[in-house]
Amino acid sequence: RERTFVMVKPDAFQRGLVGEIIGRFEDRGLKLVGAKVTRLSQKQAEDHYGEHEDKPFFDDLVEFITSGPVVPMVWEGEDATRQVRQMIGATDPAEAAPGTIRGDYAVDLGRNVVHAADHEDEGANEREIALFFDDDELVEYDFHESTWLYD
Ligand code: GTP
Ligand code: MG
Repeated sequence: RERTFVMVKPDAFQRGLVGEIIGRFEDRGLKLVGAKVTRLSQKQAEDHYGEHEDKPFFDDLVEFITSGPVVPMVWEGEDATRQVRQMIGATDPAEAAPGTIRGDYAVDLGRNVVHAADHEDEGANEREIALFFDDDELVEYDFHESTWLYD
């Protein structure tokens, strides 16, 4: 099954939404295979958001994402990247549907509580997972729920 990279951003961490966000993915039936609490260096942040380096909001984005602790995670499941993108909702929380994470917990484009790898960007998961995790930090195990989640 597919692995996808997700990260609780500093705003959500400070607002005590870590458990809430992890719970959304657990409840959906995704399998957690890696997670940590960390704070990004300037360099990690610039690498992570490298695709946006020419955008006018790049400096603000890097400043924000390095401003406090984050929770990078790897979740596994059938079609996980697309499922997770649907669950987090539109980039701008003002446009995000109620029921999505951003639609339920955020109001501002620059404080949108959670990051997920781009479904349209083929190499995004592999690249982003490698930025935050060594291979031995991702755990392989039997997920007993899967019998009841998948046909
Ligand atoms: P991430 O999961 O954080 O990558 O968000 P995304 O994939 O939904 O959006 P995208 O990668 O296009 O943009 C990355 C982040 O930059 C967003 O989460 C926003 O916080 C911020 N951002 C995107 N577009 C704008 C913009 O037009 N203005 C400002 N100020 N911030 C923006
Ligand atoms: Mg993005």
